[in-house]
Amino acid sequence: MKNILLILFLYLNLYSSEFSKTLFEGNCLACHNIKTELSAPSVIEFKSAYMDLFPKKTDFIDFMSMWVYEPDEHTAFMPDAIRRYGLMPELGYDLEMLRDIAEYIYDTDFSNQ
Ligand code: HEC
Repeated sequence: MKNILLILFLYLNLYSSEFSKTLFEGNCLACHNIKTELSAPSVIEFKSAYMDLFPKKTDFIDFMSMWVYEPDEHTAFMPDAIRRYGLMPELGYDLEMLRDIAEYIYDTDFSNQ
């Protein structure tokens, strides 16, 4: 019984991080490239700006998901990017999904991708 629970737990964990990866790739990479700055700052660039400000995982997730939920030039941490590309549009996703994506971004090392 213990083993079954352990396997189920590992499976759910794996499943949820794979799912967040799919959400991230499907919804953020349309505009953001991992390493290259095209029509928006790269993922590595915005992650590192947020990491400097919010090294604690819970803060990082709170601030990134709230900002993406409702992009606002007054609360943006990368004002230069707004001057260059215009404000990021509101995507209309629910906050829980954006929190999963922010957690995935926090946990993932993009430098070797
Ligand atoms: C339609 C294009 C588009 C999509 C899709 C998009 N972004 Fe953006 N994003 C931008 C642009 C353009 C900027 C730079 C201007 C700005 O900061 O508003 C930006 C900026 C950001 C910033 C920096 C905000 C700040 O504090 O200044 C974060 C964080 C971010 N995006 C996260 C995400 C995440 C996470 C997703 C996927 C859920 C996503 N973006 C999807 C266009 C997009």
